[in-house]
Amino acid sequence: MIAIRDAVEKDDSALMDLQKKCPMGSSLILQLDSSPSYFNRSKHQTENHIIVAVEEGNIIGSASCAIMEKRVNERNLRTAYNYGLMVDPNHRRKGIATLLTERREEIATEHNIDMIFCQITQDNIPSTRIQEKRGFIHVKDTTSYVLMVYKPQKPSTNAVIRPAENPDLSSIVDLINDTYSEYNLYKPHKIDEFKELLEKRAHYDLSNIQVYEKDGEVKACLGYWDYNKVMQMTVLQLARKDQLMNIALAFLGIFTKLPRIPKPGQRLTQYFLQDIGFTKPEYLTELVKHVNNIALENGIRFLSTLGVEDPISEVLSKFMNTTSTEHIYIKPLKELDLTGFGQKKLFLSME
Ligand SMILES: CC(C)(COP(=O)(O)OP(=O)(O)OC[C@H]1O[C@@H](n2cnc3c(N)ncnc32)[C@H](O)[C@@H]1OP(=O)(O)O)[C@@H](O)C(=O)NCCC(=O)NCCS
Repeated sequence: MIAIRDAVEKDDSALMDLQKKCPMGSSLILQLDSSPSYFNRSKHQTENHIIVAVEEGNIIGSASCAIMEKRVNERNLRTAYNYGLMVDPNHRRKGIATLLTERREEIATEHNIDMIFCQITQDNIPSTRIQEKRGFIHVKDTTSYVLMVYKPQKPSTNAVIRPAENPDLSSIVDLINDTYSEYNLYKPHKIDEFKELLEKRAHYDLSNIQVYEKDGEVKACLGYWDYNKVMQMTVLQLARKDQLMNIALAFLGIFTKLPRIPKPGQRLTQYFLQDIGFTKPEYLTELVKHVNNIALENGIRFLSTLGVEDPISEVLSKFMNTTSTEHIYIKPLKELDLTGFGQKKLFLSME
C-alpha cells in the first residue's frame, strides 16, 4: 500500500538517497546530490511543499511545489510551480508519479491556486506524458544558455564593477523590475520582499550580486548563485552534440585555449545567473565577463541560466555556450484569460 504524505525533516537523508537513484535528463544525464540537505534548494520559498510516496516505511517517490504570486497578462495570479518529481527506478510504471502529481493538484486547490506551471527538459518523454495526461497544456519552448568558463574575459570598460551593498538595493530592484516589466510569470519585487528573499536563499546574499556603476549610478546588476553548494551535479551521460563538441574542442585545444565539457563521472560545476537588471545590453555583457572571471578563479566551469529571452539571450550568445530547450506547461485551475500567454516573454528562475 502506497501512502502520500508531506515530507518531514527526518526524511532528509532518504530524500537524498532517492535523488541519487533518479538521474535527471535524457540526452545529457545528470546525477543530482543535494547534500547536506534536500531542503536547502527551496529555503527561500515563502510557501513550499515537498511530498513523498511511502511504501512499507520506505520513501520511493517525491514531488515538490512552490506557491507564489506571479503576474500573468497584467493580473496577479496565485500560482503553484511544480518541480522535483522523482520515483525510485524499482517502482516505476506503477502510477506513483501520477499519485504524486494528483496530490500536488489537491494541494494547489486547497491553496486557492489559479494556475499550475512547470518546465520539462526537452526529450523527457515520461514527464511530458504524465503532465499531458493530467491536462497540462504545452505553452512555450524556451532556451536555456550554459556559458563555458575557460579563460579570463577582458573588460571593455573602465566603469566600476563591484559587489552590491545595502544602499544599492532600491536601484537593483528598479533595474530588475524594469528589465522584466513585459514578462509573464514575473511579479515586480518590492524592496522588503527582495531583501527577505536574499536573506532566506541558501548560499546567496547581496554580495553575490555584482553591480555596474557609471557616473555614480548603478546601471546594471547580475547575481550568481553558487549552485554547487545547493546541489552537486555529476555527468552520467553527455548529449550527443556535447560529445561531438568535446572531440572538436580537444582537437582545437591543441592550438588555443578552449573549454572542456565534463566527461561521464566528472562534476559539472556551475553558477546560476539571476537577478538580472540592465539599462543597456553592453552593461550586462561587462557583468557577465566579470562573473566569468570570478567563476574562473573559483574553479567553476559553467554559468547557467533558465529560459532566457532577447536581449538577454543576445548578450549570452556572444560567449561560448551550449543551449538546451525547456518545455513550459501550464494547467489553469480556474477560468482565466490566458490569451497570448506563450507568445509573451516568460520569466523563469530557479524557484
Ligand atoms: C518521470 C518519472 C517520475 C515517472 O514516474 P512513474 O511513477 O514511473 O510514472 P507513472 O507510473 O505515474 O506513469 C504515468 C504515465 O507516464 C508515462 N510514462 C511514465 N514513464 C514512462 C516511460 N519511461 N516512457 C514513456 N512513458 C512513460 C506513461 O504514459 C505512464 O502511464 P502508463 O504506465 O499507464 O502507460 C520517473 O521516470 C523518474 O523519476 N524519472 C527521473 C526523474 C525525472 O525525470 N523527473 C521529472 C523531472 S521534470
